[in-house]
Amino acid sequence: MTDTTTASTAPAVRDTALELSRRWDAQQTGYIRHRSERFATIARVVAGVTAGIAAPRVLDLAGGTGSLGRAVLAAVPGAQVVIADKDPVLIGIARDAASGDDRITVAEVDLGRPDWMQHPQVAGASFDAVVSSTALHWLRPAVLVDVYWAVSTLLRPGGVLLNGDHLLYDARHESTLFAVAAADDQLMQTSTFGGDVDTWDQWWEAVGDEPRYADALARRAAVWGDDLRDAPPKVTLAFHLETLRSAGFSEAGTVWQYLDDHVVYGVR
Ligand SMILES: C[S@@+](CC[C@H](N)C(=O)[O-])C[C@H]1O[C@@H](n2cnc3c(N)ncnc32)[C@H](O)[C@@H]1O
Repeated sequence: MTDTTTASTAPAVRDTALELSRRWDAQQTGYIRHRSERFATIARVVAGVTAGIAAPRVLDLAGGTGSLGRAVLAAVPGAQVVIADKDPVLIGIARDAASGDDRITVAEVDLGRPDWMQHPQVAGASFDAVVSSTALHWLRPAVLVDVYWAVSTLLRPGGVLLNGDHLLYDARHESTLFAVAAADDQLMQTSTFGGDVDTWDQWWEAVGDEPRYADALARRAAVWGDDLRDAPPKVTLAFHLETLRSAGFSEAGTVWQYLDDHVVYGVR
């Protein structure tokens, strides 16, 4: 665990990081047709739940380069946002992109480790909202359960969890929409990556061209190990909702949905 709060950085470094983050957003939208709408929905709910609070505290779990945190700040300019992520490259870009903006801090944490909540940017804080996007499917189901239980202790009563992710239809019992969603995903990827948007590999090559991130890239393989290749089993929407309820969330449901793309919420 590394304490990586926002540091002052030269404008050129910040601009490079913001450009990489913009390219990341374009690349990710190839996999998530309505990613910006998903983000705007999350930000709108955070704004509603935190109305009247001068400086609401928001935690972006597995926040990558910080895109969702910035979307929340656009809707809630007074917020204090902690972007937490395990990947040394993505969190490095998030840190550089946030340079000069004292509303954002970053925390390099592995949600798979039970001590992630002890990070100085997270420990002891009462958050008004915990948000996440396209990330928690990387956690094994047992770890996701632990993370939702942990989040329930980090949120103040009335605080909200918002998690946007693909929650796949069941291939057997929901085969019609499973096929429709899969075809739609394929269509989106084909039309996006046939143009001038980076593919996943091209984006990582672009990062490799930036000497500033060479050390973080070198560290990346060790940090991830086999987890970089081995995707954990998928869980259902029902699994998310049941876990939130059992973790003490008083309300749980879906805020927004497009095919298998969901924003799940829980109110503490
Ligand atoms: C597809 S990216 C999404 C990033 C960001 N939320 C976004 O929407 O742009 C998945 C993110 O999950 C992070 N992640 C996966 N497993 C994690 C773990 N165990 N702890 C912390 N972050 C993790 C990855 O490092 C990556 O940043």
